[in-house]
Formats: sequence, structure tokens, C-alpha cells
Amino acid sequence: IVAFLQPKPLAGKRLVVTAGPTFEALDPIRGITNHSSGKMGFAIARAAREAGAAVTLVAGPVRLPTPRGVQRIDVTSARQMLAATLAATVDADVFVATAAVADWRPAEECGHKIKKDGSGQPPSVAFTENPDILATVAQGERARRRALFCVGFAAESHDLLVHAQAKRARKGIPLLAGNIGPLTFGQDDNQLLLVDEHGTQELPRAPKLELARSLVADIARRLPSWTA
Ligand code: CTP
Ligand code: CA
Repeated sequence: IVAFLQPKPLAGKRLVVTAGPTFEALDPIRGITNHSSGKMGFAIARAAREAGAAVTLVAGPVRLPTPRGVQRIDVTSARQMLAATLAATVDADVFVATAAVADWRPAEECGHKIKKDGSGQPPSVAFTENPDILATVAQGERARRRALFCVGFAAESHDLLVHAQAKRARKGIPLLAGNIGPLTFGQDDNQLLLVDEHGTQELPRAPKLELARSLVADIARRLPSWTA
């Protein structure tokens, strides 16, 4: 009943959000990944659905319940996440990238388990850079003609403001949310610094769902002037 009475500032809009880590296989039993609980992305999916949007959640390997009314696509690797995201954003109005995408993957995935060879020498692994999902979407036709509003996230260990501004410009996105404070993973609350072309605005420390609702409301307020 409460949800029924809530304002629906994203009614009629489609929102896509990436969440969680990616996992990049080295062989059938090993790989590299990032720390990420997925909680912020799942909270944004839920908040956007509450705000009336049709929501697609592209999720890396996390064990979290799917928010009610949200379409979830489970992926493992960055390349799978890119493919699912490109497909989901073809008719989307908002894209929010919260995923902690592995920046590199093993250049070759071995089809069988790599065994110790008895020499005491570890195998050397060559890495290759993964596609940048956010930058790819932000450089796409839909974002460039301002039909798609792209939002990035950044967790920096130092000099958040400088890095956040640079990252926003480099990715070509209108809005970037920086995680303020020490790098902590899996916590239920968070604090964000919103960075846009005009400056910054702080969303004070709060539970992730509350922050997600504030961010979704902020995005909804920005949409009319962005698409105009
Ligand atoms: N991102 C992405 N695809 C990648 C890397 C990052 O979509 N391959 C997105 C993240 O979901 C986040 C934003 O880009 O919204 C910033 O991610 P971050 O890791 O902070 O930026 P990078 O460009 O990877 O730079 P670096 O890790 O070197 O700071
Ligand atoms: Ca990165």
C-alpha cells in the first residue's frame, strides 16, 4: 500500500544496471575476480523499480535475491556482461554501471586444469584488458544522441574528487557516483559523492537502499533536461 502511494518519477522509463563482480576463468577451476557484494546495484534495481521503471539487472556472480519485479540476467565474465548490457540498453533510458568489472582476464583460457609440473616454477599467465562496458555504452549511438543517460560508479583509495572528475570525463558520462571513505566491501551502508559537469554533491552516509532511492530520484530529476 505504501509502495502504491509512492511517487513514480521513472514511470514509463527503462533502466539497466550492472552489479557485482565479474569472474574471468584461467582454467575450469580457477580464475580472477574482484571484491564486490553487488548490494549497491541490487538496491538501485529495487529503487528504480519502486520508482516505476522497467528494470533489467545484469548481475555477475553474487548470491542475492532478485528484487521484486526486476528482470535479472546472470553473467560470469566481463565479455558476457558487455553482451547482455548492450542487448538490454538498445531501448533503455538510463544505464547505471555499479559492477566491479575485472579490468583484465587471462589472455587464454586453458580448457583443462593447469597442473603443477614438479619443477617448482609457477606458470606464467598473460593478461589482456577487458572491454570497458560503461565507456562502450556511453560511446554508443543511443547515449550520444542523449536518449540514454549513463551513470558510473567509482571506488578510489585516494584523491576521490580528482579521480572521479577525470573518470567521468574519460568515460564520457554525465554523472559519476564516487564511494566516499575507506574501501569497504559488503557493508550495508555507504556514502556517495555525485560528480557532474557543474560540480559535486554529497549523499550522506545511509543504508544502501536509502542511498539508492536518493540516487534514483536525482537521476529522474536530471532526465528531462538531459533528453531535451
Ligand atoms: N566499468 C565497466 N567496465 C569495465 C571497467 C569499469 O563498465 N571494464 C565501469 C564500472 O562499473 C564503474 C566505472 O566503470 O561504473 C568505473 O570503474 P573503475 O574500475 O573505477 O574504472 P576503470 O576505468 O576500470 O579505472 P581504474 O580501475 O583503473 O581506476
Ligand atoms: Ca577498474
